Amino acid sequence: MCGIVGYAGFRDCSEVLIHALTKLEYRGYDSAGIAVFDNGKIKVCKSQGKLEMLKAKMEREGRPQGHVGIGHTRWATHGEPSDVNSHPHSGAKVTIVHNGIIENYRELKEFLSSKQVKFVSETDTEVVAQLLNYYYDGNPLDTIIKTIGELEGSFALGIVFEDFPEQIYAVRRESPLIVGVGKGENYIASDVPAILKYTRDYYLLDHDEIAVLSSEGVTIYDEHKEVVTKQLMTADWDEDAAEKGGYEHFMIKEIHEQPNSINMTVKPRVEDGLPNLSECGITHENIKNFKNIFVVACGTAMHAGMVGKYVIENLARIPVTVDIASEFRYRNPIVGKGDLVIIISQSGETADSLAALRLAKSLGAKTLAIVNAKGSTIAREADMLIYTHAGPEIAVASTKAYIVQLAVMYLFGFELALAKGRITEEKCRELTSALLDTPELIESILKNDLEKSQYISTQLITADSLLYIGRGLDYALSMEGSLKLKEISYIHSESYAAGELKHGTISLIEPGMPVIAVATQPELLEKTVSNVVEVKSRGAMVVLITREDFKIDENAYDYRIDIPATDDTLMPMLAAIPMQLVAYYTSVLRGNDVDKPRNLAKSVTVE
Ligand code: AGP
Ligand code: GLU
Repeated sequence: MCGIVGYAGFRDCSEVLIHALTKLEYRGYDSAGIAVFDNGKIKVCKSQGKLEMLKAKMEREGRPQGHVGIGHTRWATHGEPSDVNSHPHSGAKVTIVHNGIIENYRELKEFLSSKQVKFVSETDTEVVAQLLNYYYDGNPLDTIIKTIGELEGSFALGIVFEDFPEQIYAVRRESPLIVGVGKGENYIASDVPAILKYTRDYYLLDHDEIAVLSSEGVTIYDEHKEVVTKQLMTADWDEDAAEKGGYEHFMIKEIHEQPNSINMTVKPRVEDGLPNLSECGITHENIKNFKNIFVVACGTAMHAGMVGKYVIENLARIPVTVDIASEFRYRNPIVGKGDLVIIISQSGETADSLAALRLAKSLGAKTLAIVNAKGSTIAREADMLIYTHAGPEIAVASTKAYIVQLAVMYLFGFELALAKGRITEEKCRELTSALLDTPELIESILKNDLEKSQYISTQLITADSLLYIGRGLDYALSMEGSLKLKEISYIHSESYAAGELKHGTISLIEPGMPVIAVATQPELLEKTVSNVVEVKSRGAMVVLITREDFKIDENAYDYRIDIPATDDTLMPMLAAIPMQLVAYYTSVLRGNDVDKPRNLAKSVTVE
């Protein structure tokens, strides 16, 4: 997913655009560029690679001088990362930047080529620039409306017309785009951190809305050219919240923010010791009759769903199916009226998760979104919505968003079990109180287990491959532990049900192979320990994450990370922390770009 920015005002536009793009780097990108009105002409400077490459090129070629322009960081989908495929892309009179995928770009490219239009790049974006240019009749708004009427797919566009040097245009379909409002200056951006230095006030563009900006003001139209009145939003983040706050990386900062994120997410939803999700549109009445629940998400969010499955099935006794969104949307799921589909998403813009939401609604199911990004598409389209309040999560590898996704799944599970009469009010209070205590317990883990986790990571950095094993909730949690390690340390790992090892995978075990075992569930402890001994006796180097009060033969493991005891159901909230720390330190020790791992983007808004 890329970043789009635009500016119209009194400042040095190039400087504003580059600053804004650096605040969007966390979204992942492979090239960057800007287009600025310089003496009435649109001057483009773009380059493959990081923003540093673009800045160096600007110095070599001369920075565009002006006060109006657009900028872009690209995450390539059509055409390899290269200078020529970087954005902005131009037709004669029009220059654009684009986030998303134009699904019918081939037909459009054939049409334009038949009109002798010449293309220089491999991108779908250039087709949009040339189509805008082809339809350009001197009226930018009419041109844009006509053009987007022919586009299929997802797009957020920043557009400048050579004949209108004081204005920038923006249009949104699927891919997020906001309009920042200042005094004598206005902005467009893919996300709020880009504009926080200048303003906290912004509009969220909706489907096929078109914004026309100049230094004087902003007008927003719908696709029928009707002026739209929008609610002005105010970001409650300051720029520090989007900065590292003294930590070396965003990821370690966000790991330490988890206690606060849980408090911000859980406390406002507990009243008189019981869950109260009424502000999310959730009451006992409207949830107690669901027959089946589906949790649909991607990556880490899906792993939060896996933990939620065990919790809801165990407490509320309703079948829960967890689906990877990209599978759910194409497997012709047996979902319908009376079912609940829960979509979990930090960004609220993940293409597969959004498509799954829309499919679930079309099949007649009720939908609940658990989302961190305020006003995101998934948040706005679901029937019911529980925001997580983790604050901006800048590191690509999700930590605090994951832990609050777990917290919300617990709250919802407790509420559902109570609504169905499966647990007593007393039990619900007990569980809710234990959830409210987890921030303090996590604080103690962050204090007591940091060095141990750091040391253990020194034992992992040369590994070719690891296994994460557990049973029940510990198995669900180990999936996330494995992904965390893989995505930031680039060491292969796999999570495996501990009881299943002997059916084949145990053949992988060789002397020194690290196995991270999670054992937090009393009724499964003995069985898990015997699985641990199975791998240890074959030479594995075992790291055991377990409860500090469990008595376990020290010959069963090489290293032990102890975590405090709480209600068995809530142990994943605690066991997740050492896993995050081990992954983080392993990545740091391997010299990786911890916050922006290779090949990854913070929000995958393309299929
Ligand atoms: C997070 O650690 C992962 N990089 C990734 O799997 C992420 O969880 C997934 O892409 C889903 O994103 P979302 O929560 O914004 O929908
Ligand atoms: N599909 C466009 C391209 O490949 C835009 C990708 C993006 O969102 O950065 O250039």
